[in-house]
Amino acid sequence: MRDFSSFVPVVEQDPTDPAFVENPYPFYRHLRAQGDVVFWKDYGFPVATTLETVRQVMKHPHLGRAVPKALRPTARPELAAFDKLEQHSLLEIEPPDHTRIRKLAMQAFAGPKIAGIAIPISQLADQLIDALPEGPFDLIEAYAKPLAARSITAFLGVSQDHAARLQTWSNAMVAMYQARRNADVERQAEAAAGEFADFMRGIIAERRKVPQNDFISQLVAFQRSGDLSEEELLSTAILLLNAGHEATAHTLGNAVPLLLDFTGRVEALAPGSIAGTVEECLRFRPPLHLFTRQVYQPVTVAGVPLQPGNTIGCLLASACRDDAVWPDGEKFDPFRIQHRHTAFGVGLHSCLGAALARLELQIGLPVLFARCPDLTIVEPPRVANLYHFHGYEAMQVTVRQAPPPST
Ligand code: HEM
Repeated sequence: MRDFSSFVPVVEQDPTDPAFVENPYPFYRHLRAQGDVVFWKDYGFPVATTLETVRQVMKHPHLGRAVPKALRPTARPELAAFDKLEQHSLLEIEPPDHTRIRKLAMQAFAGPKIAGIAIPISQLADQLIDALPEGPFDLIEAYAKPLAARSITAFLGVSQDHAARLQTWSNAMVAMYQARRNADVERQAEAAAGEFADFMRGIIAERRKVPQNDFISQLVAFQRSGDLSEEELLSTAILLLNAGHEATAHTLGNAVPLLLDFTGRVEALAPGSIAGTVEECLRFRPPLHLFTRQVYQPVTVAGVPLQPGNTIGCLLASACRDDAVWPDGEKFDPFRIQHRHTAFGVGLHSCLGAALARLELQIGLPVLFARCPDLTIVEPPRVANLYHFHGYEAMQVTVRQAPPPST
């Protein structure tokens, strides 16, 4: 571990400490007071804490997500299926491959296709609410997770019947990025990667025979024209399904107590203000707190000299509360004039699905509160003890339903 103590303050905080995971914001405030960059001893790398520094790191051409080949751990046969998918994932590659694949994925994600999914998302939200019991029941399982999972499957063109299975595979794979990775997590991720890949190969073969007007058919067309390899097609489709629901489900869950406690809730959820409200929910309680960047060439960030082989962290959730940008940033205010936050990341790897995620939240939250005007949280919700994915494990609520508005 390189010694950064002569450049930046050193801080210690166990990222698996439940009290910290429940509310990491006092720690983030403490970090920002120490400096734009501090050394987080438990992780063994420096982290950027403020908005401008996080933006600088994420946009810097000498820094990237992919771990240089020489520093990658030796391939382990027991993780072969997982590694194979990772190898071509947008999140694990850099230009020029990243530029080529991302451009194709963006084309398949074009604006009209996102707008076209709005009606199916509101129908999904209504269907899920129709099926809610009065409670108590877990709103995360009954609404937030299925809405996010079914929206992304609908968008990609995978049948809703598979949403639950995809969610299980995806959860097992995403667990590999959490602070609690262990042999058990690895075994489950490997099994999930193999089954997910087989399932996806089947869908791709079907779309090859009978193309549809969906994201996967579009990727199949790119593969046919030679712009995308078979493995890249598979990895991209699986990444979209994985990345496409966990973070959105957590954001939806995170927003519920914030909105319940907010006195101007009805106005905040009205059509003219919902876009700003969703941005404030993302800024105030983002679902993803920490990402890392690898150093490819020497660079100095906020006075800290970084060398090839070093890692630097970006604390997105701390940047979202930067006092220099939002002087009253510790207050949840859907009506504030928004400044660009970092919940979706910045630069080359910034969120490809941000427009879809925003749409799901802009539909899913107003429908929930309009159809369940008496929504009440009956037990303090538990934050899942998984630093990195900040969201509720469960949220016990009761509801009294209003019928859907007649169209
Ligand atoms: C509220 C919901 C979401 C949040 C907060 C979120 C956040 C993020 C963040 C912070 C990154 C950047 C990671 C980095 O730079 O290291 C990212 C990347 C990505 N996200 Fe999202 N995301 C959300 C929803 C979605 C959805 C719905 C999809 C797909 C439909 C998606 C697909 C992706 C993909 C493919 C990448 C990788 C992009 C690349 O490497 O070029 N995300 N997301």
